[in-house]
Amino acid sequence: MANHSEKIKKLAVYCSGGDAPGMNAGIRSIVRTALSKNIEVVGIRGGYTGFLEKKFDELTRRGMANIIQRGGTILKTGRCLEFLKSEVRVKAAENLKAEKIDALVCIGGDGSFNGAHALFQEHQIPITGIPGTIDNDLMGTDRTIGFDTAVNTALDAIDRIRDTAASHDRLFIIEVMGRDTGSIAGFVGLAGGAEEIFTPEFPLSLDKVIEKIKKSRERGKNSSILITAEGQKPGRAYDLAEQIRKKTQLEAKVCILGHQQRGGSPTAYDRILASRTGSQAVETLLQGRCDLMIGVRGDDLVEVPFADTFKSRKACPKNLLDLAQILSL
Ligand code: F6P
Repeated sequence: MANHSEKIKKLAVYCSGGDAPGMNAGIRSIVRTALSKNIEVVGIRGGYTGFLEKKFDELTRRGMANIIQRGGTILKTGRCLEFLKSEVRVKAAENLKAEKIDALVCIGGDGSFNGAHALFQEHQIPITGIPGTIDNDLMGTDRTIGFDTAVNTALDAIDRIRDTAASHDRLFIIEVMGRDTGSIAGFVGLAGGAEEIFTPEFPLSLDKVIEKIKKSRERGKNSSILITAEGQKPGRAYDLAEQIRKKTQLEAKVCILGHQQRGGSPTAYDRILASRTGSQAVETLLQGRCDLMIGVRGDDLVEVPFADTFKSRKACPKNLLDLAQILSL
């Protein structure tokens, strides 16, 4: 296997897609691991847009102080649809070469890895990645950086809402993030004792849900929490509340947790996951392997080809939704 430690003199790190708590811990780990091997490091600001606008900044060991506990990303991030065009990637590759950047580490989700894969295939710039998204929807890894924090943030809010729901005998519909997948909804639903969990991947019959709520009211349960993933249409909790009101006259209060789930100080789990995968992403490049994401399975780090991370999306585990159903009765 080729050893690239001689070839890689300058490495760049960037974040792409939605931010996720723990990205800063990942940046810190990548930067300090590379510097410990005498590799220069630059940060590319603002995701793929930064490639095109040459937003390259040198990163230092000291510059990584006091960021491990901070949410968001010091490098900023973004979604750059232009990067889907091959001519735009030509420009990006030219800018990287002009800056003498030999290799890259990407922190992001499936769209970000799709771009990284194309850049490697077309321009042979070695790239590895680490999974950064609150959605936990990447194939090949048990967890993504930011998911644990987002789940705990949402759970804290749900516990508070439960106090007031119980005091007023109310029905609440709480909307959490998750455009294409419902892992946040599933995990907080189970952990928060929700009565029903709406996810994009396992649709529920509203009539059956209403039937269940009615029955639980007959049994003396006077307050209920329903969780819904936002799906393709943020605000869908209002649609659900309206449909329930029309069919039952029951008033459902709505609470949309929104972007607060993306912010805040990362949990220990996310900091550790980011630190471990970040460091390994650099080691793997130096050992001559690239075009892959460092993920985690059980306690072990694994290498997953980029191409396997974006060909489908990891769904919320169905058994978790089924268990939540049984336990909420
Ligand atoms: O990063 C993932 C995610 O938070 C999804 O859960 C959510 O649907 C989407 O991003 C929101 O993106 P934006 O902040 O660009 O509206």
